[in-house]
Amino acid sequence: MTDMSGKVVLVTGATNGIGKVAARELAKMGATTVIVGRNPDKTQTTIAEIKQASANSQVHGLIADLSVMDSVRSLAEEFKRNFDRLDVLLNNAGAVFSERQETADSLERTFALNHLNYFLLTNLLLDVLKRSAPARIVNVSSDAHRMVRRMNFEDLNSEKSWGIMGWKAYGQSKLANILFTRELARQLEGSGVTANAVHPGGVSTGFGKNNGGLMALMMKAAGPLFMKTPEQGAETLIYLASAPEVQGVSGGYFADRHPVEPSPAAKDDAAAQRLWEISAKWVGLAARV
Ligand SMILES: NC(=O)c1ccc[n+]([C@@H]2O[C@H](COP(=O)([O-])OP(=O)(O)OC[C@H]3O[C@@H](n4cnc5c(N)ncnc54)[C@H](OP(=O)(O)O)[C@@H]3O)[C@@H](O)[C@H]2O)c1
Repeated sequence: MTDMSGKVVLVTGATNGIGKVAARELAKMGATTVIVGRNPDKTQTTIAEIKQASANSQVHGLIADLSVMDSVRSLAEEFKRNFDRLDVLLNNAGAVFSERQETADSLERTFALNHLNYFLLTNLLLDVLKRSAPARIVNVSSDAHRMVRRMNFEDLNSEKSWGIMGWKAYGQSKLANILFTRELARQLEGSGVTANAVHPGGVSTGFGKNNGGLMALMMKAAGPLFMKTPEQGAETLIYLASAPEVQGVSGGYFADRHPVEPSPAAKDDAAAQRLWEISAKWVGLAARV
């Protein structure tokens, strides 16, 4: 097991599913583990569980609704007030929404939570990541990015078309994760901070069950028979966050601990730069790192 003592890791979406397993395993390696949850009680319960399973007392919680950009900003500020280094940022919180919803920022919720949250939180923490280099950013994406042919820049907020049960918006957000990772890795070259994206596989977690109805039924039915356990699904996240052999590796898309080719649309560097510029404008950041 890699020794992560002295390192600080921040894991979003760590109160359930693969994020919870990744946080627990990184805590077992000795890392000071900061979990982000949106429900204070569930976050406290998760901290207690991880402390017990890891015998590591340095497990802490921060609360944020990551689909709301002011909440992402407050999270970054609170992290910096409490911790002076960040060795691993694991952007993992994400969801699919079968019905179109808008956040308080008038953003479609899938794009806000799955992409703009990764984009804004990472940018706000880049100074501390660079100060802590060598440091790693791991962005949880999905092979669902293959469901869309390209970034639909004409309808990033899904106002014109929604598609079936939210899968188009989900696929687009997961394509955005890979494009963001590529452009981020390019901009971070030489900084000692790496960025990689992950497909965890089809994993039996809470994923999709937030919707109830047909989607939740399908996820429950598929779960035990056809999907990975959360432990199996978290493996590549943990690998990219901690393994010595991927020290310095950046800009990749990984599944089952191996680099894999994403779709052609996910390798479009012009689209990656365009997405970066639009995202920076939408969240109110300067366009360059
Ligand atoms: N499961 C799969 O088959 C699969 C496949 C490919 C990719 N992925 C990706 O894997 C990542 C993790 O998903 P999972 O499968 O572990 O699902 P999960 O069990 O539903 O866990 C999602 C986590 O994100 C948190 N979260 C959701 N909305 C949030 C918000 N607005 N603010 C803050 N936290 C929020 C959840 O908090 P609560 O505990 O409060 O609900 C939970 O901790 C996602 O990015 C997903 O797209 C999953």
